[in-house]
Amino acid sequence: MSGNEQDRVRIFDTTLRDGEQSPGISLNTQEKLEIAHQLARLGVDIIEAGFPIASPGDFEAVQAIAREVHGPVICGLARANSQDVDAAWNAIKDSERPRIHTFISTSDIHIEHQLQSTREDVKGQARAAVAHARSYTEDVEFSPMDATRADLEFTAEVLQIAIDEGATTINVPDTVGYSMPDEYAHMWRELYRLVPDLANVTTSTHCHDDLGLAVANSFAGVTAGCRQVECAINGIGERAGNASLEEVVMLLRVREPAHGFWTGVDTREIARTSRLVSRMTGYQVQPNKAIVGRNAFAHESGIHQDGVLKERTTYEIMDAATVGVETNSIVLGKHSGRHALRNALEELGFQVEGQALNTAFKRFKELADKKKKVTALDLEALVSDEMRESPSAYGLEWFEVEASSGRAPLAKVGIREPGGDVVEGQFTGDGPVDAFFSAINAALGHEAKLREYHVSAVTGGRDALGEVSVILEYHGRTATGQGVSTDILEASGRAYLRALTNAIADSPVAEAEHHVREAEHTPTP
Ligand code: KIV
Ligand code: ZN
Repeated sequence: MSGNEQDRVRIFDTTLRDGEQSPGISLNTQEKLEIAHQLARLGVDIIEAGFPIASPGDFEAVQAIAREVHGPVICGLARANSQDVDAAWNAIKDSERPRIHTFISTSDIHIEHQLQSTREDVKGQARAAVAHARSYTEDVEFSPMDATRADLEFTAEVLQIAIDEGATTINVPDTVGYSMPDEYAHMWRELYRLVPDLANVTTSTHCHDDLGLAVANSFAGVTAGCRQVECAINGIGERAGNASLEEVVMLLRVREPAHGFWTGVDTREIARTSRLVSRMTGYQVQPNKAIVGRNAFAHESGIHQDGVLKERTTYEIMDAATVGVETNSIVLGKHSGRHALRNALEELGFQVEGQALNTAFKRFKELADKKKKVTALDLEALVSDEMRESPSAYGLEWFEVEASSGRAPLAKVGIREPGGDVVEGQFTGDGPVDAFFSAINAALGHEAKLREYHVSAVTGGRDALGEVSVILEYHGRTATGQGVSTDILEASGRAYLRALTNAIADSPVAEAEHHVREAEHTPTP
C-alpha cells in the first residue's frame, strides 16, 4: 500500500448483491456471512450486502452482516421509493458504518418502457429518495441506472438533484455493458463539466461485462477521476457479470508505477476469496481467468518453463504469492491433535471453538485417515463445508449405492429432515449418481430436476477431497448446492440436499419478491 491519498481508489464489493443476482445463485444467510467476513479480511472498503426489500431472506442476511462484520462500510440497496429506503435502513442500521445506495434509471428506454414514467417523475423520485435516505444516514450513494445510454444532460440534472439532497457518492453505471473505455471516460469528463459539484463527492464506476470491457471501462473511469470502483469477486453479476474485483485490484497494483492509483486491499487474500465465492455460489472459475484461474500462473511451453526456472520475471508480471495462490503450505497428518488443528484454522482466518471445533476435528480425523497430508486447501474446503451444515437443512444420514456393469444401479438413502426425523427412500437410475438423486427425491417426496453437475478435486493426488457442485430446478426456481468429501457419492448427496434446501427455502420468498416487483413494474437491477 502506498501512494498519496487523492489517488487511493475505494473498492466497493457487490458480490453479495449484483453477484448474487446471477442465475441459479441462492446463498443463505450463513453463506453470505462467511463471504462477508472474508471480504472484510480482503480489505474491501464497502460491502454491498444485498437488496433488503427483495425478500425476507435478503433482509435477514444484510442485517446479520451489518451486525457481525466489522471494518468495511455495509451498504444496502434501495430503489428510489420510501419503502425500499426504509427496508435498506432497517437492515443496515446496526452497522458501525451504514450506507444506503438508492437508484433510478435515467435512460429514456427505461423511463418509457420499464418505469412507464416521465423524466419529471424520475427527478422527483430521485430527490425524495435521496432526501429520505439522508434523514437516516450521512452516507448515501445515488446511481442513475442505464446512464451510459441516457441523455447526458438529463443525467447531469438528476445528479445535481441527488447532490443537492445530500448524496455523498455518485455512481454512474454502465448497466448493460454497452460503453467503450474512451466513451465512458468522456462521459465522466462531461459530467464533471456539467455538474461541478461532483468535485465535492466520491465518484464511482459500476460496469457490466457484456462486451468484455467491464474492467477496461472501470479503469477508464478511474483515469477520468473516479475514486470508487464497484466490482465483484470472480466477476459474477447480472448476465455477463460485473468488473472482476481481482482484475481491477491487480491492475491498480501491478501498474501503479505507470498510473499512480492504489487500493487498500490485501491482495494475498484474493485467491482464497475467489475459491470461497466459487465454492459457495457453484460458479466455477474458468481455468484461464486472469489472476485467479488455475492456469493464471502455469507455464506450459518448454521455452516459458525454461525462462521461469531461470528467472521468474521472464514470463510473469506478478508473483503468485502476491495474490495468495501459494497457500498450500500448512500440512497436518493423522497424528496432529486438536491444538494443531485449531492453530492451522486460525492461520487460515477461522476462529473455531467449542462444539464447532469438535466437529471440525472429527471431520479432520476422518480425512487424515484416508489422506496422508491434509493441506490448507483441504482444511478450507472442510471448514466451509461444515459451516454450511444447519439443523434447518436436510442432512445425509446414510446411503447405499449398488452399481455393477450387469444391471441398473440401485440407491437407498436415509435423509434427516429439519425436525430431526429420518426418512428413507430408494430408486434406480441410469447411473449411480442419478439413482442417488432419485432416491433422495423419493425419500422427501420432492420432484427436483438436476440441471448441472460438476466434480472437481480440491488438491492433486488420488486421495484428494472431491468437491461436487449441483444446480437443480424445483418448481421453476433454480438453486445451487455444494458438498465436499473423499467419497464423490457422499459429496454429491450433500450438494444435492443443500441445493434442495435452498430451493425450498426460496420458493415462498420468490413469490413475495414477485409481488413487490409487479407492484413497482421494476425488475431487480
Ligand atoms: O447495473 C446497475 O445499474 C446496477 C445499479 C443498481 C447500480 O446494478
Ligand atoms: Zn449492476
